[in-house]
Amino acid sequence: MILLTGGLGYIGSHTAVELAEAGYDVVIIDNLSNSKIDVVDKLEQIIGSPVKFYKGDCQDEELLRRIFMENDITAVMHFAGYKAVGESVEKPIEYYDNNINATLALLKVMKEFGVKNFVFSSSATVYGRAKSMPIYEDFEVSAANPYGRTKLFIEEILKDVQHADNSLNIAILRYFNPIGAHKSGLIGEDPNGIPNNLMPYITKVATGKLDHLNIFGNDYDTKDGTGVRDYIHVCDLALGHVKALKKLETAPGLVIYNLGTGTGYSVLEIVNTFNEVCGNLVKYEFAPRRAGDIDVCYASPEKAEKELGFKAQHTLKDMCESSYKFEKNNLK
Ligand code: WQD
Repeated sequence: MILLTGGLGYIGSHTAVELAEAGYDVVIIDNLSNSKIDVVDKLEQIIGSPVKFYKGDCQDEELLRRIFMENDITAVMHFAGYKAVGESVEKPIEYYDNNINATLALLKVMKEFGVKNFVFSSSATVYGRAKSMPIYEDFEVSAANPYGRTKLFIEEILKDVQHADNSLNIAILRYFNPIGAHKSGLIGEDPNGIPNNLMPYITKVATGKLDHLNIFGNDYDTKDGTGVRDYIHVCDLALGHVKALKKLETAPGLVIYNLGTGTGYSVLEIVNTFNEVCGNLVKYEFAPRRAGDIDVCYASPEKAEKELGFKAQHTLKDMCESSYKFEKNNLK
């Protein structure tokens, strides 16, 4: 069985679906701090069989031991963690405590039960202001905020832990910008409160829950002056996790992969594509740049393609359509 921490969240829930479809049994632990309990039912509707769920926190070692005792866990996929860049600047202690100590508790209990396979949800944010594009996995890493530093520090912890026990197989997956939703419209990106990220903000404007989009800066050194990012469909990202798990079954030690498409789209390109899809419902205004934003960020997907046989398949139109479909279903 595969243990998914934060498995009711955006990336975790989509990965649960792809793992089930690939024939794996999953068990989920989630403290519901940024997810909803009804995702369990939605996953069961999509997968067509019961989903084992434990409500609780990854720092609760006793709960972790109960999960490992009650289930034959063969691998852990660690999605649970606080992830709002702006919030991390205001609350660094909570971010370091939650993100790092949860990982340490997991690694400790895995060791007690002899579980050797670990997939870590990292982020392109560890590249900071990369020296050039596209970004390769051997680029220098640096982080510009506490959230990014928790990802960076955890990557270093994983390297030390694997060095101390080279029977461990660890995949560090650096996500670029996941957007989109499962084709059923039952699960998707559903952050608490006002969204920080672009696509959930756009979908709330398109469904009338927010008045208009503020485009943060149109004076960047890009084709239309707005920020460029590597948007990847969340279902492609989830498939990348299945491919990474299969790679761990070949005992590779510690491996690191970008999960992106290799194509950068600007904010205006996203908005214009979305408006083609939803019938021109997204009004926007240009606003000042957001602190900490960079002009351009996109991946080289070559290493994951070569070593995992992973290549993102969905189009930008798919990403917009599926995001819109989920938000229309999402009555909140
Ligand atoms: C994308 C583009 C904004 C909102 C962050 C984290 C990263 C990961 C994904 C967690 C930028 C512009 C956005 C809005 C806008 N998070 N934008 N108006 O900043 O690339 O990445 O989220 O894992 O680690 O760093 O994503 O969606 O916030 O922004 O104009 O209301 O959209 O300026 O150019 P980002 P984003």
